Amino acid sequence: MMQLENLTTEIKGNILYITINRPKNLNALNIKTIVELDEVFEEYMYNDDVKGVILTGAGEKSFVAGADISEFADFTPAQGKTMSENGHDTFDKIENYTKPVIAAVNGYALGGGCELAMACHLRVASENAIFGQPEVNLGIIPGYGGTQRLVELIGKGKALELLMTGDSINAAMAKELGLVNHVVAQADLMAKCEEILNKIMSKGPVAVAKVIQCVNAHYRGGGYVGDSYQGEITQFGQCMETEDFVEGTSAFLEKRKPEFKGK
Ligand code: COA
Repeated sequence: MMQLENLTTEIKGNILYITINRPKNLNALNIKTIVELDEVFEEYMYNDDVKGVILTGAGEKSFVAGADISEFADFTPAQGKTMSENGHDTFDKIENYTKPVIAAVNGYALGGGCELAMACHLRVASENAIFGQPEVNLGIIPGYGGTQRLVELIGKGKALELLMTGDSINAAMAKELGLVNHVVAQADLMAKCEEILNKIMSKGPVAVAKVIQCVNAHYRGGGYVGDSYQGEITQFGQCMETEDFVEGTSAFLEKRKPEFKGK
């Protein structure tokens, strides 16, 4: 594992907490931070101590205020393309993570920050959170999946408005649009994320992973599981060969709580 410069990590109660830690820059995502995110998600992919992830930003002001503008201001087209490609790889890894990932959006989620939150499976925002894709102000477009995931989450008309105006919206509006799942007071943000994550983590982990794969297939031309409807059929059948399936159905019929092993 590389020495982490821009992230902190902690494991507590089977949850991996990842905090983007560049508060002086409002946690702006420079390239090194994305490389570190990639490494951390990779590192814990098969670690059984980790059953879910909460991703947040350091401080009370910002989740992530975007890609680090000072870093790419003099980029050539080729450098820009590489930056975008690498970001896509990492954000795809998060979106397809086989363990649930919740973004705890504790403040500004602009540009790459909004894109990072959208790559997570669920988003919980504090009341002070601000969302937006302000790239057009800089003469660029979102490069980490924003033109696609925003459409998926809130629909084409609203997405085009936010993407073309560069307008920011507050947490309440983000909730109304379906961009976030829940809005809570900042003091309650982590507890709300933990409550949801603990509930998901009590379910059959193989089944939860398959839900993620099948839902993502809807938006990715099937990518990970083949044609998306066929994918669901295949994945449904595969559930029947898991121990979790036997445990889940037996527990229901025996009127007791299931104890899933993720196998
Ligand atoms: N890239 C690089 N640095 C950033 C940054 C970004 N995306 N967002 C904020 N910062 C830096 C600021 O330059 C400033 O650094 P300084 O203290 O060395 O001058 C520091 O973080 C604090 O930001 P500041 O602008 O002073 O805070 P604010 O409360 O006045 O405004 C924002 C907050 C988020 C509205 C404003 O920082 C902003 O518009 N950021 C850029 C958002 C953006 O366009 N993101 C998309 C990038 S593709």
